[in-house]
Amino acid sequence: MEDVSSLGLSDWLVQQCKHLGINKPTPVQENCVPAILEGRDCMGCAKTGSGKTAAFVLPVLQKLSEEPYGIFCLVLTPTRELAYQIAEQFRVLGKPLGLKECIVVGGMDMISQAQELSNQPHVVVATPGRLADHIRSSNTFSMAMIKFLILDEADRLLEQGCTDFTKDLEVIMSVLPAKRQTLLFSATLTDTLQELKSIALNKPFFWESTSETRTVEDLDQRYILTPEKVKDAYLVHLIQTFVDEHDDWSVIIFTNTCKNCQILTMMLQKFNFPAISLHSMMKQKQRFANLAKFKASVYKILIATDVASRGLDIPTVQVVINHNTPGLPKNYIHRVGRTARAGRNGVSITLVTQYDIHLVHCIEEQTKTKLKEYPIEEKEVLKILTQVNVTRRECEIRLESTDFDEKKEINKRKQLILEGKDPDLEAKRKAELEKIRRQKKKFKQKIQENIQRQKHKQVKKKIMKKKHSEKS
Ligand SMILES: Nc1ncnc2c1ncn2[C@@H]1O[C@H](COP(=O)(O)OP(=O)(O)OP(=O)(O)O)[C@@H](O)[C@H]1O
Ligand SMILES: [Mg+2]
Repeated sequence: MEDVSSLGLSDWLVQQCKHLGINKPTPVQENCVPAILEGRDCMGCAKTGSGKTAAFVLPVLQKLSEEPYGIFCLVLTPTRELAYQIAEQFRVLGKPLGLKECIVVGGMDMISQAQELSNQPHVVVATPGRLADHIRSSNTFSMAMIKFLILDEADRLLEQGCTDFTKDLEVIMSVLPAKRQTLLFSATLTDTLQELKSIALNKPFFWESTSETRTVEDLDQRYILTPEKVKDAYLVHLIQTFVDEHDDWSVIIFTNTCKNCQILTMMLQKFNFPAISLHSMMKQKQRFANLAKFKASVYKILIATDVASRGLDIPTVQVVINHNTPGLPKNYIHRVGRTARAGRNGVSITLVTQYDIHLVHCIEEQTKTKLKEYPIEEKEVLKILTQVNVTRRECEIRLESTDFDEKKEINKRKQLILEGKDPDLEAKRKAELEKIRRQKKKFKQKIQENIQRQKHKQVKKKIMKKKHSEKS
């Protein structure tokens, strides 16, 4: 398809696309937009950075302009930052309509959100937890008339990961009309296809890009094999090289825990790198502020947990570094997809210890891509090894002296209360379970010892018998 005007959209929307540099539709847009305009449910699986957002925003705006009312469309997404990004696409593309959109996410003021919801916005973009809270606690808005339900990063919303959305989704689904169009999008839909089909019941149009590989062709995927203890030195060396050679590059470093994220940020700042962090234990306003500073290139390095691995669209990101090898190939696909977006180039570098080699094999098998080794001057890395490790230790001590672990414990308790559980009772239950586990272990050990003793006795007996028969 040559031009965005052949998608079946009104002239004002085509013009709006062109103003924003969307001239030629991407394959996911070319295939899904007409099907959605026909009134079909849709499941779109296309690579990271391939324009899935516009593939659902455009047909919704088209239909909304034909019959404008609120609340017309609900978009659900797993993270707060992503909700703001999607709302922005609606706002920008829907400007000529005077679109009213409302963002409903955790960590922000609930009263003003409730007010906005009761003002009948055309589009609501939400994370499931906070929207379910609003539905449970107020009857000042209705979603009984919505025409579109969209699940962006649909597989993440339906899987039972560290944040489980299933209960909240049940609450939300219970207030939505059965007659609606349901649109599901992600770069990794296929694992959760069955669950998705139970949400998009209306004979969904399924579209998946035909490409052999599951990661982007313009992405140069690399790995560095390193002992655990040298990992940070490799990281500092890599960043130093990028800073020396490219003053316009932005880098995202993914790591596994909030604590590690904090420590790495402190460590890189000690080396005078413009680094800033993003993880779920930060206050929400701080999270938004940090992301905004990174997007504006005030800080060139973002250290994040997987909270930033999906959907975020930041064109300046040239490099993604995986400080830990992701345990699941799909997490790898989303993480490295933060670079090489919309036809741009990009590099991803995964730090791999000897214990992670099997994970790399899984990633290669699933993505149908072979990772190449990233050439590096080991001598240069060894020169800074001691200094880096001492700095890291200093940062760890500094963080331990703050109340980081205490805050983590308070957050855990808050989460349990929100889930309707008693934190003290849960702690007791956990301690009892641990006690039972320990007793079982002891019991097993005793049995093993007994078996060993019996075996020993039998062997001894046999030897004695043999000696006896030899003598006689
Ligand atoms: N037809 C188009 N032509 C040029 N650029 C486009 C087109 N459609 C979308 N884009 C741009 O491509 C970028 C990536 O789009 P988008 O964020 O929708 O990707 P995605 O497929 O949702 O990726 P992810 O899987 O990471 O969420 C955006 O900056 C968007 O403005
Ligand atoms: Mg997206």
